[in-house]
Amino acid sequence: MKALVTGASSGIGKDIARYLASKNVDLVLVARRENALLELKQELDSKVNVTVYPCDLKDLEKTKSLASTFNDVDILINNAGFGDAGEFINTSLEKELDMVDVNIKAMHVLFKTFLEQFVKNNKTAYVLNVASLAAFQAGPKMATYYASKAYVLHLSEAVAYELKKRKLPIHVTCLCPGPVATEFNKVANVKFHLKEISSKKVAKLAIDKMFKKKLIVIPGFKGKAAIFFERFVSRKMTNRIICKAQDKKIGSN
Ligand SMILES: NC(=O)c1ccc[n+]([C@@H]2O[C@H](COP(=O)([O-])OP(=O)(O)OC[C@H]3O[C@@H](n4cnc5c(N)ncnc54)[C@H](OP(=O)(O)O)[C@@H]3O)[C@@H](O)[C@H]2O)c1
Repeated sequence: MKALVTGASSGIGKDIARYLASKNVDLVLVARRENALLELKQELDSKVNVTVYPCDLKDLEKTKSLASTFNDVDILINNAGFGDAGEFINTSLEKELDMVDVNIKAMHVLFKTFLEQFVKNNKTAYVLNVASLAAFQAGPKMATYYASKAYVLHLSEAVAYELKKRKLPIHVTCLCPGPVATEFNKVANVKFHLKEISSKKVAKLAIDKMFKKKLIVIPGFKGKAAIFFERFVSRKMTNRIICKAQDKKIGSN
């Protein structure tokens, strides 16, 4: 099998690539930092075939061409993404538009173009879209990020339903982690106050569940409990709780 992993230069994507390599899956590694991808290729080269493809996913024309360039891929890991914190009236419009390009548009383009390819080639295939616990509610003081991840979750769920209804052998999984120890904090300008899970653990769980064809994967008991109990709390109260949590994250940075 062969997987294309976006955001493979660090964090969850890097550990997903490592775990897939341990399962003898060949890899196409995509991110902007070529050196980090080459380092990972060097680490994994003795186990599997690794292709490094430096790419800024904001370049949607280049992103559109990935499915036809790598038409022998059977696993798409749509992982690249980032966040930003602060009040919507103060945050950077440019950074937010970049976030929409990477978290939403590039994810959408890859999801669609690879699915088209999988259907055309009539092959069994897997897609893992990385959303977040943030996908389940609005996120005051991290509004764009939370909204972008809601898009990933809802698109994944709807498309997975359509594929299943048509009995196509293509399986979609949406990973929804809470805080994970990666470079995410630095890029988003926040500091988590909850205990972070290791990206290695999250990567293993996500891939194991993907191969078991699970639709939504929430790592850790606390994450699952939060989503379960959220249904008994009003949206107004949820907004208040999330806003307080963001204040803590931003305040201590
Ligand atoms: N860490 C958490 O707490 C957490 C929680 C829930 C969900 N997530 C999600 O998990 C995913 C992975 O994040 P992470 O936590 O592993 O953070 P990370 O360590 O910062 O990794 C983000 C990855 O995305 C890539 N990326 C960002 N912008 C890109 C662009 N324009 N073009 C190509 N690649 C780009 C980065 O590569 P380059 O910089 O080399 O381009 C990097 O490899 C994200 O979608 C994030 O939203 C993270």
